Amino acid sequence: MQTLGVALGERSYSIHIGSGLLVRADLVVPSLTRKNVAVVTNSTVAPLYLERFAGALAREGVDVVRIVLPDGEDHKDWPTLNQIFDALMKHRCGRDTTLVALGGGVIGDLAGFAAATYQRGVDYIQVPTTLLSQVDSSVGGKTAINHPLGKNMIGAFHQPRLVLADTDTLKTLPERELRSGLAEVIKHGLIRDAAFFAWLEANLESLLSRDAEALSHAVRRSVEIKAEIVAEDERETGVRRVLNFGHTFGHAIETGLGYGAWLHGEAVAAGMAMATDLSRQLGYLSEADSGRIRSLLQRAGLPVAVKGVAPARMRQLMGGDKKVKEGRIHFVLLERLGAATLRDDVSAAAVDSTLSRLAA
Ligand SMILES: NC(=O)c1ccc[n+]([C@@H]2O[C@H](COP(=O)([O-])OP(=O)(O)OC[C@H]3O[C@@H](n4cnc5c(N)ncnc54)[C@H](O)[C@@H]3O)[C@@H](O)[C@H]2O)c1
Ligand SMILES: [Zn+2]
Repeated sequence: MQTLGVALGERSYSIHIGSGLLVRADLVVPSLTRKNVAVVTNSTVAPLYLERFAGALAREGVDVVRIVLPDGEDHKDWPTLNQIFDALMKHRCGRDTTLVALGGGVIGDLAGFAAATYQRGVDYIQVPTTLLSQVDSSVGGKTAINHPLGKNMIGAFHQPRLVLADTDTLKTLPERELRSGLAEVIKHGLIRDAAFFAWLEANLESLLSRDAEALSHAVRRSVEIKAEIVAEDERETGVRRVLNFGHTFGHAIETGLGYGAWLHGEAVAAGMAMATDLSRQLGYLSEADSGRIRSLLQRAGLPVAVKGVAPARMRQLMGGDKKVKEGRIHFVLLERLGAATLRDDVSAAAVDSTLSRLAA
């Protein structure tokens, strides 16, 4: 097991990464105010892991409420959030209850938002079971649900007390989900660490074949990068925005195609290809580096363009993104591999030129 930390003063927490952590109730119990937890999971993850996790807690004398939600991005909404509140109320869960998110990023975002608001805020623990949630969404305290007009539009910052990433759970992850998670791993290399990007180029096949050592290295380095950036800028007023590389385009793709049509990581991959094209077009990024990025995304089986959202629709949707301030779209661009830069002076013509090539 490896343990990393997010340094946020009194809101600091540990992230444990390793094999066999689901049954390590001894790691969970010290983070509980009282031995009451409500585990939020979904109908796919529950049969795989709920009893293993809840059983270990119960053996430590922890009282466990089980909340099993329907699976899918299209359930990251108010009615599903309400199901969590209904169950918490029905079981008379008090402010000393700790919520646990057992599942991927959808469950993490729902349970985290429920924890941020139930009785004005209760503790929660992230137990991420997808590659994407282990390398990205479980760390940093962003929680949200979707609005029909925009992704993640309703939410709160609420840091977990603990993150427990059991890499064994990745063995049951569908292939397409694994590839989707790799998009965020690649993102971390692109924005912050050229050597890690080169390591990904060299080890992509091992990752795709789920080599345990390769996966745990990818998770660890990703979490290190994310934790470092979050510690610098918890509320995303500055540097944390680089974590949105590819996401201004990517969220427009997700909303444009309809939630759930493409996986988040797939939309982010095409979004990163677009942001890469824009960076190259504006002269920040070399042809050669831009080629390496496209090629790694393609080797990972990820899309590098979108069909089904026309350029005009993309532009309209990008205008509605949270990353828009004072009418200007903030773009995260790359200056080179491993170095991101924030720009709010990108011309509409440049964006249109990229969209005309990569969106249809
Ligand atoms: N809060 C943040 O900072 C942040 C960051 C990135 C992404 N997100 C959000 O995360 C969501 C995407 O997360 P995701 O990619 O984990 O998707 P997901 O939560 O939908 O999980 C993907 C699928 O895998 C299933 N699954 C989960 N664990 C499994 C396992 N171990 N074995 C087999 N199947 C398993 C799920 O039930 C689901 O069907 C999006 O809503 C995105 O907006 C949030
Ligand atoms: Zn993302």
